[in-house]
Amino acid sequence: MRGVFPALLLWFSAVYASHGLAPCLSNAGLSFEIAQNSTWAADTTAFNTRLHYVPSAIVYPTTAAGVSSAVKCAVQAGMHVSPLSGGHSYSASGFGAQNGSLVVNFRDMSNIMHDAKTQQATIQSGARLGDVALALNASGRALAHGVCPYVGVGGHSAFGGFGYSSRSWGLLMDQVISVEMVLANGSIVHASSDQNAELFWASRGAAPSFGIITQYTYQTHQAPSSVVRFSFSFSNPSLSPQKFAHVLSAYQDYGGTAPKAMGISANVWDSGRTVELGGYYMGSMVNFNKTATDLLAKTGMPDGWYVQERSWIQALVEVNGGSSLDTTTASDTHTTFYAKSLVSPIASPLSNKSLEWLAGNFTKPLPSGYAWFTQFELWGGGDSAISSIPSTATAYPHRSHLFTMQFYIYQTQSGLWAEDATGFMNDQAEALVDGNPQTVFGAYANYIDPELAGWKDMYYAGNYDRLEVLRKAVDPDGVFMKPQSIGPSS
Ligand SMILES: *[C@@H]1O[C@H](CO)[C@@H](O)[C@H](O)[C@H]1NC(C)=O
Ligand SMILES: *[C@@H]1O[C@H](CO)[C@@H](O)[C@H](O)[C@H]1NC(C)=O
Ligand SMILES: *[C@@H]1O[C@H](CO)[C@@H](O)[C@H](O)[C@H]1NC(C)=O
Ligand SMILES: *[C@@H]1O[C@H](CO)[C@@H](O)[C@H](O)[C@H]1NC(C)=O
Ligand SMILES: *[C@@H]1O[C@H](CO)[C@@H](O)[C@H](O)[C@H]1NC(C)=O
Ligand SMILES: *[C@@H]1O[C@H](CO)[C@@H](O)[C@H](O)[C@H]1NC(C)=O
Ligand SMILES: *[C@@H]1O[C@H](CO)[C@@H](O)[C@H](O)[C@H]1NC(C)=O
Repeated sequence: MRGVFPALLLWFSAVYASHGLAPCLSNAGLSFEIAQNSTWAADTTAFNTRLHYVPSAIVYPTTAAGVSSAVKCAVQAGMHVSPLSGGHSYSASGFGAQNGSLVVNFRDMSNIMHDAKTQQATIQSGARLGDVALALNASGRALAHGVCPYVGVGGHSAFGGFGYSSRSWGLLMDQVISVEMVLANGSIVHASSDQNAELFWASRGAAPSFGIITQYTYQTHQAPSSVVRFSFSFSNPSLSPQKFAHVLSAYQDYGGTAPKAMGISANVWDSGRTVELGGYYMGSMVNFNKTATDLLAKTGMPDGWYVQERSWIQALVEVNGGSSLDTTTASDTHTTFYAKSLVSPIASPLSNKSLEWLAGNFTKPLPSGYAWFTQFELWGGGDSAISSIPSTATAYPHRSHLFTMQFYIYQTQSGLWAEDATGFMNDQAEALVDGNPQTVFGAYANYIDPELAGWKDMYYAGNYDRLEVLRKAVDPDGVFMKPQSIGPSS
């Protein structure tokens, strides 16, 4: 008995400290946890352990009605609300990217339903990419999406969602045909091209500023019977800045007219001593061979390569480094990192000087206990499906763009984060910006960089003002507001 009293006192003081949030969630019959729960520390640890934000509570709804009740409770308690699907946000955005939010965790809302008649899949926001790929494949179907199996469809679809099949099928967002969404006033609405069309437009590029998407309906594609997995690596003992610039500019030149079946990125690591051009081709070996011949005629012969026909699922496993796509058998891991992105317009090719500067910056001293990689993903060019959509057709604006580049640095030993590590990657991006002074670069919100200056223009370009008009109408009180959301935040 003696132990129970202090525990109860703690429980009640936490309840009062959160302005009646807990009783409200409790009355609504929702499962939730607060700081007193034993699993709190684990459940509030972000995927990116460089960042830590403390929610007021985490709620685990099982229905859209439950999400609606949770939103109403948060509004009553004067708190911001943040949806968390897979939890892989680079900025811990699922945890609100600030302290004190009510986190709506989609752990218990991850159903994947495929309708064989319409070939549409309705997928709840908590479903993870690996499980989605396996479930759809069982029906002979597929979607274009990113590589990491533990990423949730919620955030991935909300801001883009690129994979090697995206030049054929579009971003994950582009395959969405309707969404179910809970708004700031708790109403549950559907949005598609002919219902709440403005909300549908905003939900493809900036969804979390407007509501909580509980489920997406996607138009699926027939899963390819096979694809061609390939990797060409250029890895002289010391890849000179000139050689690096030559390979990258040849790849850029190839990308301008590459067929949409070609899913490719240039991946740089190993202190810049290796550049790999790899991915998979959505077609036959014979046709792959033709386009690969064009590519290699420009780059020169690689130092190492492989080319293999693979099943659809095997290719997805291989681009994930060989690990299983099934996320139900092992729990997710954590990593400590900083990343940023640049998106380059097709009309402004990266100059050779900027690529040489970038390569020079690879060799600068790195704080010990860190490793990095840089990627040039080919999104546009040729007949890419991503570029076939006008830049004002979705809130995501970067359609006439060639590369989305990611600059990613992570800890290999635990310890306090060194600001020099952040600076190291900022300098890489800066080399490209400085070397292309006329170019208006964008950035990709799924590689969200909480330190990015000018993010409104870089993420949303000409679409920002239209987003802000709608945000004022549907969330005038900023219930969904967080750093780098649409609205008066910075
Ligand atoms: C959190 O703790 C409370 C009080 O012990 C309990 O009722 C609730 O089920 C716990 N929540 C979770 C998600 O474990
Ligand atoms: C969030 O809360 C934690 C724990 O109380 C605190 O250490 C941290 O400084 C807070 N962060 C911000 C941005 O206020
Ligand atoms: C994917 O689907 C194909 C065709 O239905 C099937 O042969 C294959 O076994 C499936 N792969 C996995 C890993 O389930
Ligand atoms: C393309 O096919 C030819 C003839 O079979 C072969 O010699 C060449 O290595 C292939 N090229 C690629 C890039 O696969
Ligand atoms: C880079 O240099 C190559 C010659 O090595 C040239 O063909 C190409 O046009 C240059 N790229 C740019 C963007 O100037
Ligand atoms: C790094 O990039 C800058 C441009 O931002 C350039 O001036 C500098 O020379 C590069 N550093 C190296 C070591 O090449
Ligand atoms: C909730 O907000 C939406 C969007 O602003 C509005 O259309 C709807 O009428 C509101 N519903 C209620 C019950 O106030």
